[in-house]
Amino acid sequence: MISTDLNLAINLLNSGEIIAIPTETVYGLAGNALNENALIKIFKAKKRPYLNPLITHIGRISQLSNLCKDIPNEAWVLIDVFWPGPLTLLLPKINSIPDLLTSGLEHLAVRMPSHPMALQLLKSIDYPLAAPSANPYKYVSPTSAQHVADQLENIIPLILDGGDCDIGLESTIIGFENNEVIVHRLGGITIEEIERTLKKSVILFETNDSHKYPGQNKKHYSPNKRITLIPFGSDLPRIHEEDTLISWLPSSMSTDSISADGTDISGASRLFSLLRDLDKKETRKIYIEQAPNIGLGEAINDRLKRAAYPS
Ligand code: TXA
Ligand code: MG
Repeated sequence: MISTDLNLAINLLNSGEIIAIPTETVYGLAGNALNENALIKIFKAKKRPYLNPLITHIGRISQLSNLCKDIPNEAWVLIDVFWPGPLTLLLPKINSIPDLLTSGLEHLAVRMPSHPMALQLLKSIDYPLAAPSANPYKYVSPTSAQHVADQLENIIPLILDGGDCDIGLESTIIGFENNEVIVHRLGGITIEEIERTLKKSVILFETNDSHKYPGQNKKHYSPNKRITLIPFGSDLPRIHEEDTLISWLPSSMSTDSISADGTDISGASRLFSLLRDLDKKETRKIYIEQAPNIGLGEAINDRLKRAAYPS
């Protein structure tokens, strides 16, 4: 059921159920982060492997001390500037946190979302919410209540409707190791913003160790159709009438564009619903032009690369 009933949401969560909630990035599949049965329901509904941990969402800074310890100074600086907002921090977890939440890792991923309905919900309950994106494992993340319903309507009791997500890309994930600041996932806060705030360069993370560093799947956000990427700014190909061409900017040569007006903000907010529409469309081949690699364009290109990764 899609509804805006916040009290119903609170009652369901209090009774250990899981529900979909809006955030400013993408919709999340939420349950009590400290209740192992609720966590198991989340993994099962998403068909997500237990080795891929969940992000914890809080509504008050004071909740951090019940979840994490030894929080580095640079984390506090980022919290001050970017919370509530699309920034997730990897922080050393305290021992009593359920292992399922972090898949047994030493660090907890935590953020405070800025969507007004999500914040109100989090402030109305006395436990944090675990919430991965509300899509089946490896499919495109949802940016509207209807997107969630398309796959999960019959599996969960409630989809709390907070409208279309403002940002449309998941949160940026940042960790701290040996005095370095490491970007584990590009997302709604740009690298430029992080570096300007901390007055230092960050390291873009790449690894092959998928247990210690989950979420590095080469294939993700994938419609069930094959996508060919075109570098930004190269000549757009002339396509066969049964094929689809998505350019970065609106163009007479293309079927549609990622950005409506050339801004990275517009491109980010349209990307996932475009990928979902392409999945439903009768088409032979799909060509997509990448974004300029600045600002949110970096995160958009990260998602496009994973969406186009061959099966
Ligand atoms: O914007 C977002 O972050 C959304 C909304 C709902 O808040 N959530 C989201 O969650 O994108 P999810 O589960 O779809 O993506 C979280 C990523 C996964 O790739 C997971 O592997 C990684 O974060 N992650 C979670 N906990 C981690 C941890 N303790 N250490 C390393 N990576 C972690
Ligand atoms: Mg996800």
